[in-house]
Amino acid sequence: MKKTLVDYLLQSIRSGIVALNHQGMIVYANDPAMKILGFDEEQLCGRSWGELFPMTEKNSEFNKIIADATENEKLTIHREVSYVSAMYQLYHLSVTTSFLHEKKTISGIIVQFDDITELADLRRRERLINEERQRLSLEMVDSMKQISLSVAHVILNPVASIGGFARLIMKRVEENNPLREFLENIDECALRLENIVKSFKEYTSIKTVNYEIINLSSFIECIRPKVELIANKFEKEIHYHVDIENHVTAYIDPVLFTIVFDEIIMNSIESIEDSLGEIEIAVYKTVCGIIIEIKDTGFGIDIRHVCRAFDPFFTTKTSNNGIGLFKVKKIIAEHRGTITIQRREVVGTKVVIHLPANDPAVYSY
Ligand SMILES: Nc1ncnc2c1ncn2[C@@H]1O[C@H](COP(=O)(O)OP(=O)(O)O)[C@@H](O)[C@H]1O
Ligand SMILES: [Mg+2]
Repeated sequence: MKKTLVDYLLQSIRSGIVALNHQGMIVYANDPAMKILGFDEEQLCGRSWGELFPMTEKNSEFNKIIADATENEKLTIHREVSYVSAMYQLYHLSVTTSFLHEKKTISGIIVQFDDITELADLRRRERLINEERQRLSLEMVDSMKQISLSVAHVILNPVASIGGFARLIMKRVEENNPLREFLENIDECALRLENIVKSFKEYTSIKTVNYEIINLSSFIECIRPKVELIANKFEKEIHYHVDIENHVTAYIDPVLFTIVFDEIIMNSIESIEDSLGEIEIAVYKTVCGIIIEIKDTGFGIDIRHVCRAFDPFFTTKTSNNGIGLFKVKKIIAEHRGTITIQRREVVGTKVVIHLPANDPAVYSY
């Protein structure tokens, strides 16, 4: 009665179950196992595993799991392998092996496998669709880039001419002529347009990332003279603090990261309204990667602008074009990182960059 129930149970489950004794002889196989392996009971039971499943290349992964268990007593917990049955049908199997215990001693091996062919097909199709989608989107970005660059190029010359002619006419018009005001306006707008097109060209020409191992401590220290130079130009005294854990290195593109720091620090300097201010850069490692914080003591970003700060052409300044943080966000995204900007509690703004811990050389994309 007990034997019938166990047998009934083993035949009813969907997984294939095969039991092998110590010598690698098949002592039991349930119906799903026979169906998948492509043998009937007579062909399977009492035969040795090696005889039925010779080490052919097509089933080598599957056979290795059995060989590991029978010869090396090394069990496999859930491995997905392909298997070509005796009827030449290709399966994807999820295989697990365990020891068969009899009176507290190991008397053999149990091989359990599930047919996951449909699931594997679905996964493969999904992967192909994603690859195709990615290829199309890269192609689209590339052609958009080309179109944008051509449009930018075509716009740049006439805009420069408009500004140039406006300035030329201005020279021929007397100081008190009311037309001067219009001409100044035309010149100003042409210059603004020129700057927008130039920065857009700059944005579209951001190249793909060339990773290098960079010591962040020395990289960020190198920015100090630049900060002093700009601060002097703006007649401000800016204290530049750097707080970096020893030897924090990151896989980054130094050329692109120079743009990142230039844009963020320029915003900080512009936000410091008094003649004295501070910019502090802190870098530290976490389990998830590297955090770079840039804090200033400026007037602080308006909380209503936080979600728009990274939008293209968003600016609250009269003479800027609002492309800086848009560019920065793209560079950080290219490094698979994230960036946020927030208003600090007491004074100023804080920008936080998070770079993933993974070595980019490991994942190729
Ligand atoms: N450190 C900062 N302090 C205050 N506001 C900031 C800071 N950084 C960025 N912002 C806000 O985000 C906007 C967008 O910045 P950005 O893209 O660099 O453009 P731009 O500097 O040309 O205005 C700025 O106009 C400003 O309103
Ligand atoms: Mg800016």
